[in-house]
Amino acid sequence: MPEGHDHPPVRLVVLISGGGSNLQAIMDAVARGAIHGKIHAVISNDPQAYGLQRARLAGIPTEVIDHRRYPDRTAFDRELRRRIEAFDPGLVILAGFMRILSTEMTAPFEGRMLNIHPSLLPRHRGLHTHERVLEAGESRHGCSVHFVTSDLDGGPLVIQASVPVHPGDTPEGLAARVLEREHIIYPLAIRWYCAGRLSMQDHHVILDGVARENPVQLEEVSAAELEALGV
Ligand code: GRF
Repeated sequence: MPEGHDHPPVRLVVLISGGGSNLQAIMDAVARGAIHGKIHAVISNDPQAYGLQRARLAGIPTEVIDHRRYPDRTAFDRELRRRIEAFDPGLVILAGFMRILSTEMTAPFEGRMLNIHPSLLPRHRGLHTHERVLEAGESRHGCSVHFVTSDLDGGPLVIQASVPVHPGDTPEGLAARVLEREHIIYPLAIRWYCAGRLSMQDHHVILDGVARENPVQLEEVSAAELEALGV
């Protein structure tokens, strides 16, 4: 049953740097009608990113903006912003995008740029989160979707999923367990945004008209929502 929307599909641009498994989960959700959006471009800073192949296989336009060809971060961010704006996106999606963005890039898209981070933010901002959780002997780990602001990994949190840490877990095994959840919460957050249910106002997440102090936890999401997402 196609869901009624009072607006055309949201124009999406996805930024990647690597394998693109989150991109694939988002592409699949769009393809089955679970996200009222259209991916107009996939942009990578790495020409070797396998996610580019995923996009090309699906007939989605791809662009490479190799950060090594720019004298500094500002020059790269300026070009990246220009190329993104050419697609007039309603939402910019960072999906395994490994560049730190300056305000040159974050400011114009505040409220319409999302990121997924492999930790239960605000814990473990930055890199190597799986190793850090194991080193700290923590019993829970997970992933977070947040709006992107100039505060690295610090934007308002939308949704999180938590997984147990098992004795003997390796960083790779833990990363795989977290990634499975990423592939649920990211398409879900994008689905909400494209349905007009999710926004950021005054640095707060608004979901279904309610300003949220805390992120949605995946276990709180109804079976009906998950069924509509198709997972
Ligand atoms: C994921 O763990 C994601 O959280 C992080 O990059 C990793 C790879 O993502 N940002 P993908 O497979 O390239 O989507």
